[in-house]
Amino acid sequence: MAQTDLTALVTGGTSGIGRAVVAALAAKGCTVITTSRDPERLAPEQRVSGVRYLRLDLSDPDGPDALAEELGEEIGAVDVLINNAGESQSGPFEELPSAAIDRLFQTNVFGPVRLSQLVLPGMRRRGHGRIIMVGSMLASFPLAHRSSYAASKAALAGFATAARQELSPFGVWISVVEPGSIATGIGLRRTKYLDEGSVYATDVSTMLEHLDRNERDGIAPETVAATIVDAVISPRPRELYAVGSRAPLPFLLKRILPRGLMSKIVAAQHGLRR
Ligand SMILES: NC(=O)c1ccc[n+]([C@@H]2O[C@H](COP(=O)([O-])OP(=O)(O)OC[C@H]3O[C@@H](n4cnc5c(N)ncnc54)[C@H](OP(=O)(O)O)[C@@H]3O)[C@@H](O)[C@H]2O)c1
Repeated sequence: MAQTDLTALVTGGTSGIGRAVVAALAAKGCTVITTSRDPERLAPEQRVSGVRYLRLDLSDPDGPDALAEELGEEIGAVDVLINNAGESQSGPFEELPSAAIDRLFQTNVFGPVRLSQLVLPGMRRRGHGRIIMVGSMLASFPLAHRSSYAASKAALAGFATAARQELSPFGVWISVVEPGSIATGIGLRRTKYLDEGSVYATDVSTMLEHLDRNERDGIAPETVAATIVDAVISPRPRELYAVGSRAPLPFLLKRILPRGLMSKIVAAQHGLRR
């Protein structure tokens, strides 16, 4: 299928990685539909020309079905789904409120899974489809005080990797793209939880300082978008792509070093001695 024939649905196309993917796919001539929790607030200069912006709030359990309803028959014509939108969350495991964990999993896992289910019948019937789950390198390298986020991205990767085996015989390929530190400003939008007088306060602020600095010094979202586009146009996309944070080096180290040592390295890179 020629790249220009593709209809792509990209969630969260208003900033960072999603916006870069939208621009890259539009530049290739794809028909691009993207989403925002509040598309009406977008100024004309925030929009990519020729792209349609629809409403989707993944934290709402009915969000994906409402989007499918708005798209009508067009949902069946989606060739490419990029599950990009997500919430970044931090907080000590002991103190994370249940409601925050529920919202995170709704947004980062259950919403993307449901949206994928909604586009799959059309892809399968046409014998061609691409679904990209934007995960995180933190799923492969979990970090203290990011447990909920790391777990949500690991859950998304688990769904994708198993579903890939079901769908590839139909010409539908699901891949996971794990970004490392990417300079999108996501740290400013991160939801943070910490009890007053928390025994974890010092560690949390040390970790966040390092995390935010890594993100500020991270690679451009356009580099992640280029990896995503590669996966979309590949005849046989890979199961996992990692980009940023000197990937593939951390993955090579993970293969050769003892597990505990790798965890210590990840902690030390964020200023934590373990
Ligand atoms: N930046 C990094 O270092 C990094 C590293 C690893 C993984 N990631 C992952 O990459 C993806 C994109 O990250 P980014 O850095 O580009 O983030 P970003 O700049 O904050 O963009 C997030 C996008 O998601 C949308 N969004 C946020 N919450 C939403 C919700 N509840 N429902 C629907 N849409 C929502 C936002 O749109 P509206 O505000 O318009 O709704 C926005 O377009 C995320 O899944 C993130 O977890 C990022």
